[in-house]
Amino acid sequence: MLAEPGTGPLVLGIDQGTSSTKVLAVDEGGAVVAEGQAPVGQTHPAPGWVEQSAVEIWESVQMAVGHCLAGVDPARVAGVGLSTQRESLVVWDGDTGAPLGPVLGWQDRRSRDICAHLVDSGAAPEIAATSGLPVDPMFSAAKAAWTLDQIDPDRRRSRSGRVRLGTVDSWLLSRFGGEHVIELGNASRTQLLDIHARAWDPRLLDLFGVPEAALPDVVSSVGPFPAVRGIPALPDGVPVLGVAGDSHAALFANAGWRPGSTKISYGTGTSVMAATVTGEAADGLCLTIAWDTGEPVYALEGNIRSSGATIVWLSQLLGQDVDAVAELAARGASDGVHLVPAFTGLGAPWWDPAATALIEGLTPGSGPAAVARAAFEAVAFQIEDVVAAVAGCSGPVTTLLADGGGSVNPFLMQLQADTSGRCVRASHTPDLSALGAAHLAGLGASLWDMTGLETHARPATTFTPVEDDTSRKSRMAGWHSAVARCRWQDPA
Ligand SMILES: Nc1ncnc2c1ncn2[C@@H]1O[C@H](COP(=O)(O)OP(=O)(O)OP(=O)(O)O)[C@@H](O)[C@H]1O
Ligand SMILES: [Mg+2]
Repeated sequence: MLAEPGTGPLVLGIDQGTSSTKVLAVDEGGAVVAEGQAPVGQTHPAPGWVEQSAVEIWESVQMAVGHCLAGVDPARVAGVGLSTQRESLVVWDGDTGAPLGPVLGWQDRRSRDICAHLVDSGAAPEIAATSGLPVDPMFSAAKAAWTLDQIDPDRRRSRSGRVRLGTVDSWLLSRFGGEHVIELGNASRTQLLDIHARAWDPRLLDLFGVPEAALPDVVSSVGPFPAVRGIPALPDGVPVLGVAGDSHAALFANAGWRPGSTKISYGTGTSVMAATVTGEAADGLCLTIAWDTGEPVYALEGNIRSSGATIVWLSQLLGQDVDAVAELAARGASDGVHLVPAFTGLGAPWWDPAATALIEGLTPGSGPAAVARAAFEAVAFQIEDVVAAVAGCSGPVTTLLADGGGSVNPFLMQLQADTSGRCVRASHTPDLSALGAAHLAGLGASLWDMTGLETHARPATTFTPVEDDTSRKSRMAGWHSAVARCRWQDPA
């Protein structure tokens, strides 16, 4: 629900997500007074390929800001915060600024062979130790290697700075100022950064064949960034005061620097993330830089490639909208049907790019309701697998802080509480990535400080588990046997 618009200063939080760009205008008390959204498409030109258009992404930002500010005086905007989908790779011409190809989406796994080759060569442990990330096609590094092999095989144009590589934050910031920069947390998801030294790592650049001249300069989460330019609804020159990866921004909005917070973003994919004080990696999880507002905060994270995307896929298959599929799932029982949505392999904690999606346990009586229920259960099962890994290294996790498009669905939230045997607090602001970006911007605009942010109201609905342990464990065991079945080795 939106607060009264008021007349004081505002900050804008822009979240460029995989399926849409969302914008929130936030007042000096931290209340959301206006919002806007614009969709972004995806194409799948070959199995396992996921592409987006860099121009469409930019236009979605222009449009969503326009929708948000339709009834608001833009002169009140003191600053902008930006959060973005991560790992997706954008490539553009350093002279003209024009994209040199499609955006390779984070789910894209066309660089699988490059990753397999690195694993076979024995480089994976070294890469993981430096970058904090397992070798996987999800990260930008192998996508950059694949892209440069296509457009600049001898790397001449990359070495001269003519070819520019970046993540979505770099791309949008380049639209503003022409400068080639990337925010530290986003950079930590490329697999080219030494996350301990917080700089591009020469050995990683060498292993992936990416010249440093093609990469942006790394800056902290509070800049300096180029000021806004080219968004019709905003005056040119409004400062960009904060940038973060979308999951990182959602954790920030939860005041996730406090120990014990584990947040779950139910988006196209799902990120389970918790700040860590040890700065040590953990099995099946990534070590990531959450943000840097003066000093770096590290987080453990597990990524699920297909959560909301599973529901979208099923809704297209059934010819119904997502809400109708959600209703179907809430009414039905899965009756032994499992859906493992390994459409582009499996992410955390399995990290298996060769896994393939399956539906198992079908009987003549299995109808759309059973498959819909199985799809929702798959979201909850996948998340619990990652939460268990987080709990295994950080200690007991009793409450999950939920946000994102799926968190508005009470059936899914209750299913998560039951599947996890943990309480789930679903934020009343599902777009927490946008809110976190606004929180970062408000720091720079002196609307609040970190202590002030901790006291912001965070309204949420709590879902408490009601399923008994025996039933929960038996459902988890059924899920794990389905996961085992979808993980087969390539004959090649
Ligand atoms: N009622 C619902 N129940 C469950 N899921 C839903 C519901 N409505 C929308 N969703 C899911 O929410 C997802 C979109 O959420 P969101 O806008 O947070 O994602 P995104 O920001 O585009 O993606 P990402 O954060 O992964 O980049 C869709 O994939 C959709 O399946
Ligand atoms: Mg999102």
